[in-house]
Amino acid sequence: MDFHIPLNSYLQKYRYKYAALYHAIHDEIITGKLKKGTKLPSTRQFAMIYEISRGIVNQVYEMLTAEGYLSSEVGKGTFIIYERKPLEENKQKHTYNIRLSDWGERLSNLNHQSMPLTSALHNEKKCIYFKIGSPDLSSFPYEAWNRCLYAQIRETAIQPIEDMNHTRGYFSLRKSISLHLLKTRGIQSTPEEIVIVNGSMQAIALCSQLLINPKDQVIVENPCYKGIHKAIQAAGGIAVPMDVEKDGIQFQMDNWQSKLAFVTPSRQYPTGVVLNLSKRQKILEWANNNNAWIIEDDYDSEFRFKGRPIEPLKVLDHQDRVIYIGTFSKTMKTELRIGYVVLPKQLVQPFYHSKQLYEPHATGIMEQRALTSFINQGLYERHLRKMTRIYQSKHLTCLNMLKSKLSHLFSFNESDAGLHIFGKWLLSDIKYDVLKQKCGEKGVFWTDSTCMGLGNHSNKQHTACFGFSHLSTEDIKTGINLIASIGETLDFIHHA
Ligand SMILES: Cc1ncc(COP(=O)(O)O)c(C=O)c1O
Repeated sequence: MDFHIPLNSYLQKYRYKYAALYHAIHDEIITGKLKKGTKLPSTRQFAMIYEISRGIVNQVYEMLTAEGYLSSEVGKGTFIIYERKPLEENKQKHTYNIRLSDWGERLSNLNHQSMPLTSALHNEKKCIYFKIGSPDLSSFPYEAWNRCLYAQIRETAIQPIEDMNHTRGYFSLRKSISLHLLKTRGIQSTPEEIVIVNGSMQAIALCSQLLINPKDQVIVENPCYKGIHKAIQAAGGIAVPMDVEKDGIQFQMDNWQSKLAFVTPSRQYPTGVVLNLSKRQKILEWANNNNAWIIEDDYDSEFRFKGRPIEPLKVLDHQDRVIYIGTFSKTMKTELRIGYVVLPKQLVQPFYHSKQLYEPHATGIMEQRALTSFINQGLYERHLRKMTRIYQSKHLTCLNMLKSKLSHLFSFNESDAGLHIFGKWLLSDIKYDVLKQKCGEKGVFWTDSTCMGLGNHSNKQHTACFGFSHLSTEDIKTGINLIASIGETLDFIHHA
């Protein structure tokens, strides 16, 4: 009988003999090496040839029979009945035009490219990357955080988690967030108005699905966070970009034919400017008069280095028009994936239902409970105080270095908060490209925010964000010095 399977190599890969045998035969069949109609050795012969127990062979034959690969006929033996499709047919199958919903089509057509990184970033070579939104993990209180996490692991091992089913998130966490928001941001809320989300992006996406119909106009800041733009486009909405000036989003209210606006008032993303009070009042007035919603994305206002904290729009919102979104991604760790949304009363139920559709059971409940205990023990506030000191010093170094070394290349926005500094490029496009390319070759990168600009400007001004939070002071200095030294060579480029 011409029958062979490479069992030995499978025995090295799989811990159990039955699994090795199963996969060895299965793979031979689906790759076409064992063809339809081939008769397999009897279980007794098989056991003898491959020195394996007859019971195991029996078990594997039964598994493959149940899955439709084999069939046994009494008195005749066991045969392969699976027929592998010819290659061409297989190929064609993958190139069929699949049918997606309109939503799926819109989503697929979005530009899903992440921030441009050059290959050097993936090399072994050390690089300095001024990326945005990355907490300094070297100062993260691992011990205290792990203690909170392990306590939850121990506790939940011996008793069921009663709040497990809560799509809205762990009640005590919502209570702690409500207290924290009152103390640090002046926001009055109840735990019932708060829903925990898997990062603020989830809240942005759910709100977009909930509030935007195809062709609806949605006001956005220009430039703006790509995630917001994508969520609007996926919902079929039309983003109406409003330029950002020194005191925040530009107001041409007559053009605001919209029922929804996304804003980042405390620290505009990515420019870092603050929406001034009179504009805050105007936008609230617009929402009240037009029965519109405002989504306030308060993504990194925790770290303020000078002056009083900026009051969120939500505090001034007496008509319940503002959906306030916050996150622990910048203050704790990005991969923690815990954010929250404070909802106007009328939106509590609709938002809850939209989240419930995707998550009938809360996810990350262990982390939610650990975070509650971290906050309630005062560890979160202590961590914020410590990180504010650390970031303040890095911010100062970064800003001073940028101003003294690169102000002939960029005009920087000097904000007193946040984890990155925004700059507008002052020279020609070609010089920007050369600088970016040459710095990349030397292992220094910044976040190119040019793509965050919306609208049809054919020659968009290049902009850059210098995220400093995760870098050491040394790296900040080295990186900026290198950009400055390469910047000096740009004078020799005389095009355009
Ligand atoms: C302005 C802005 N909003 C929302 C998000 C999403 O944050 P999260 O990690 O909480 O989903 C980000 C992430 O960087 C952001 O920059």
